Amino acid sequence: MSTVIKNGTIVTADLSYEADVLIEGGKIAAIGPDLSGDEVLDATGCYVMPGGIDPHTHLEMPFMGTYSSDDFESGTRAALAGGTTMVVDFALPSPGQGLLDALKMWDNKSTRAHCDYSFHMAITWWDKQVFDEMETVVNERGITTFKHFMAYKGSLMVNDDEMFASFRRCAELGAVPLVHAENGDVVAELSAKLLAEGNTGPEAHAYSRPPQVEGEATNRAIMIADMAGVPLYVVHVSCEESHEAIRRARMQGKRVWGEPLIQHLTLDESEYFNADWDHAARRVMSPPFRNRQHQDSLWAGLASGSLSCVATDHCAFTTDQKRYGVGDFTKIPNGTGGLEDRLPMLWTYGVGTGRITPNEFVAVTSTNIAKILNVYPRKGAVLVGADADLVVWDPEKTKTISATGQQSAIDYNVFEGKQVKGLPRYTLTRGRVAVADGEMKPQEGWGEFVKRPPNGAVNRALSSWKALTAPRAIERAGIPASGV
Ligand code: URP
Ligand code: ZN
Ligand code: ZN
Ligand code: ZN
Repeated sequence: MSTVIKNGTIVTADLSYEADVLIEGGKIAAIGPDLSGDEVLDATGCYVMPGGIDPHTHLEMPFMGTYSSDDFESGTRAALAGGTTMVVDFALPSPGQGLLDALKMWDNKSTRAHCDYSFHMAITWWDKQVFDEMETVVNERGITTFKHFMAYKGSLMVNDDEMFASFRRCAELGAVPLVHAENGDVVAELSAKLLAEGNTGPEAHAYSRPPQVEGEATNRAIMIADMAGVPLYVVHVSCEESHEAIRRARMQGKRVWGEPLIQHLTLDESEYFNADWDHAARRVMSPPFRNRQHQDSLWAGLASGSLSCVATDHCAFTTDQKRYGVGDFTKIPNGTGGLEDRLPMLWTYGVGTGRITPNEFVAVTSTNIAKILNVYPRKGAVLVGADADLVVWDPEKTKTISATGQQSAIDYNVFEGKQVKGLPRYTLTRGRVAVADGEMKPQEGWGEFVKRPPNGAVNRALSSWKALTAPRAIERAGIPASGV
């Protein structure tokens, strides 16, 4: 059976034009005027865009003594409801656990996915087993991105020597390291001091992680990546200090990408000063929300190209889970949701205000990350032969965001009460209509794992340059280079 999307305007990262889209066998079969098919989806007044790719989710993640409450079932259902058609989740070995062993757990969890997905692998400890298994992860499993936590001291954090070793291994394998950039040692000291002084509430979470801890760690990771000869992707960039380090590095020709979250773009630190403990604790995440000056910096980064992708870091905990931290803010599970709301919020506050164009919207929600992950143009494109992961976007459709009726399993929404204008009319996952005019047509288990090839163009270019500029011994007459 074929499907045709008619009367819409195709909007990609570089072009907007009127055309119909014909879908056969889950892929885009033709683009042009007056196409016909068995099933017709009317896109009059709508934009036909590549479905969103969320490169940063934590579904059913074991963390801080509990599990995040959205799993691959509810999480990917939420994604589709908001126009996102692929998620990349983090496989997280507990310290001492093998990478392949952890992957089995993520393989089991992800069988329920409604949309396509991939994994990043986290490096949470370091020895020969990890070094060896990285090769299998890349070459056999098609997982080419490795996450390093520079924070969460005592659990997930890795030190600089481990990070440098892992980054060099990534360079050899044609993989890309990711960092959660916060100085975990300083965070631990500041947290202990705040607690000792009686600052136990959720607002102290923000005080324990000032922008400097993020700026320092971002710059450190960039320099370590440069010495290792590997590109770097910085997740959840929340502040000017971190953005500044990324901007500077990019201007120097370093291959660094920065990922702001929709939460940091649209919510600020005043949330933590709310008199209602639950309200504040529900918004505890790392890095914390910042003030207006930092938000302006992130928006400028998206407009100017110094920041590349907008993600959610979707890691949803219920109010009951957040209450583990009553009396001690360091025990509040860190994380917020956003999968269903990322595209409508970014459209409303980005395109709706004129801060970014519709084409830039597609770039930062889909195409840029597809290129970084080396899955473009299978994903992130409206081109013949690409997967028909598409969203038919109605720029006039409005709603007020509310936990009531959301797909996420948790009992609140950090965007509660926000008015959005711009929502999916249809979301298609490999040609299958999963959302039609707000009605969910989910199919558990439909989602497929997306294998990614290593050695993307940027890795190849960087390793050519590093080989050309590598240290070389100088031949000197009468003095053997080997020292023998
Ligand atoms: O607070 C956050 N961001 N929770 C999820 C884990 C992480 O650090 O990305
Ligand atoms: Zn993180
Ligand atoms: Zn409230
Ligand atoms: Zn995360």
